[in-house]
Amino acid sequence: MSVFQTKQDQSGDNRLKSALGDVTERFIAANPESHARWKKAHDVMPGGNTRTVLHYDPFPLTMAGGDGAYLHDLDGHRFTDFLGEYSAGLYGHSNPLILKAIKDAIDDGMVLGAPNRWEAKLAAIICQRFASIDQVRFTNSGTEANLMALGAARAFTGRDKVMVFDGAYHGGVLYFAHGGSPVNVPFTFVYAPYNDSVGMLKAITGNATDLAAVLIEPMMGAGGCLPADREFLDALRNETERHGIILIFDEVMTSRSAAGGLQQRLGITPDITTLGKYLGGGASFGAFGGRADIMGQFDPTSANSIGHAGTFNNNVMSMAGGYTGLSQIFTAQAADALFKRGEDFRARLNAMISERNLAMQYTGVGSIMGLHTVGHPIRIPADTAGEMPEKATLLHLEMMMRGFVYAQRGYMTLSLAMSDQDLDNFVSAFDEVLSIHADLLA
Ligand SMILES: Cc1ncc(COP(=O)(O)O)c(C=O)c1O
Repeated sequence: MSVFQTKQDQSGDNRLKSALGDVTERFIAANPESHARWKKAHDVMPGGNTRTVLHYDPFPLTMAGGDGAYLHDLDGHRFTDFLGEYSAGLYGHSNPLILKAIKDAIDDGMVLGAPNRWEAKLAAIICQRFASIDQVRFTNSGTEANLMALGAARAFTGRDKVMVFDGAYHGGVLYFAHGGSPVNVPFTFVYAPYNDSVGMLKAITGNATDLAAVLIEPMMGAGGCLPADREFLDALRNETERHGIILIFDEVMTSRSAAGGLQQRLGITPDITTLGKYLGGGASFGAFGGRADIMGQFDPTSANSIGHAGTFNNNVMSMAGGYTGLSQIFTAQAADALFKRGEDFRARLNAMISERNLAMQYTGVGSIMGLHTVGHPIRIPADTAGEMPEKATLLHLEMMMRGFVYAQRGYMTLSLAMSDQDLDNFVSAFDEVLSIHADLLA
């Protein structure tokens, strides 16, 4: 690199720092109530936080409420919500049918400590929609659903090991990026490379008789919205079947891709599928379901059945809200329309980026997408090396200042509550931000 280029890069770095400093100052000045609440919360919560992903720099805004596609914060600002509660907010904040279902369920009595009239109805729709699910059980979160699915696979096969993919996220105790997490569950994990059929087959061959399960998201969500290639998933399906290894699709995020999840679009049927997020109508939710012979292990009327506990597994809010959402709102047609809307929106954003020759891109599937601050093709988490988080932060704070919420790392989802105007407004604001900072993003 020439001396001239080095100097240019340094001044680019300084200009990025200065732009970030400027928007950070404006952000702090505009949000005194959120700032004060966040600082006070430090006394009683580490970092003022109880859910890591909700922290961002310089501090997260406190939301006072939401209606439809919008949020409002403690300082009185109104935002269009493109975060959508990390995909759990599919229905928006106050869909009248969901609210009524949850209110009616509460009016009829909470904490019944018994089967209720909603759970089997919700289970029936899920079994009917997902080709891989003969029977299903509910949990309180996607994390729990994955833990139960792994337990079910280990018990069923009598094997110990679990294969996961580099960079994957399946819950706070199932985190496989950046060397994993010290709070991960102590299973014996075999790491395999994502979207690399040769590497994956090698890893399976080396462990075939010990592997109980392979756990994979058909699109890495938290890992950067990176879709798995169909050929890679086909090879994985064939190889797991050949060795009697249980293939688990984590569709906690991607199930919204079609009535029958992303597996329906791909035409690939795993042995177990895990679900979560919006499927409880916006209340806490998780589910794992699959082949009848695997799920039958949990039948309490059979000899040697395995226990599956969870005080709130069938809580009436999630069951009633989830059933109403699937039966009355998120129909197969609605799922297809949302998928197409997301694909079109992502294409529109990417076209704006290409027109300006910026080193950025959105990846994703349907209504879930993630921003990357590099221009080369990204298929695996390692391809994101070279990203500059400062650029993502700059864009995020600029868009927040214009009334649009999404995750600082660039993750976004669309909700059913959004209008075309909401999407157009985002595009206009994004266009303005790209114009202002084009030289820093090139
Ligand atoms: C793919 C995937 N699996 C599992 C989970 C964990 O779900 P929960 O946060 O409900 O425990 C998430 C959460 O974001 C997820 O994206």
